[in-house]
Amino acid sequence: MKRSRMAVIIALVGVMCAACAGGEEVQEPTQAVEEPDLTSETSSEPMVQDQPVASYYQDNCARCHGENREGKNGPALLPDSLSRDDAYYLDIIRDGKRGMPSFGSKLSDQEIQILIDFLRTEP
Ligand code: HEC
Repeated sequence: MKRSRMAVIIALVGVMCAACAGGEEVQEPTQAVEEPDLTSETSSEPMVQDQPVASYYQDNCARCHGENREGKNGPALLPDSLSRDDAYYLDIIRDGKRGMPSFGSKLSDQEIQILIDFLRTEP
């Protein structure tokens, strides 16, 4: 009697150890499943500060340049009104110019380029 109870306990301990050793491996497949989701989100629309570029423009630029980029206190920002090259506008957005605030401390050059590409499309 005593011997067989001991055997059951040993067997139980063995099963529990097998379960905890396997436990860590079980979590990994769930992490891998999330990745395709992330890439489809970033590739669909250009992002500035975790926001689609059009909505970043509405929040940060529209009050001076107009909701449809038609111009307000600031000049119009439409493909036809932007006759200079990208480098010229990149400097203005990064460093500012008179009434135009500088965005260089908030945005990377890459994000400013995304904004310029956006300004060169029709609204
Ligand atoms: C506080 C008002 C204000 C805000 C906000 C603002 N701008 Fe401006 N912006 C101006 C003014 C005023 C000028 C004209 C500067 C000058 O030439 O004296 C200007 C000029 C520019 C120019 C150069 C246009 C040209 O034809 O020379 C670009 C490009 C531009 N802004 C982009 C942006 C973008 C992109 C944002 C948002 C990230 C933004 N601006 C936010 C006021 C603003």
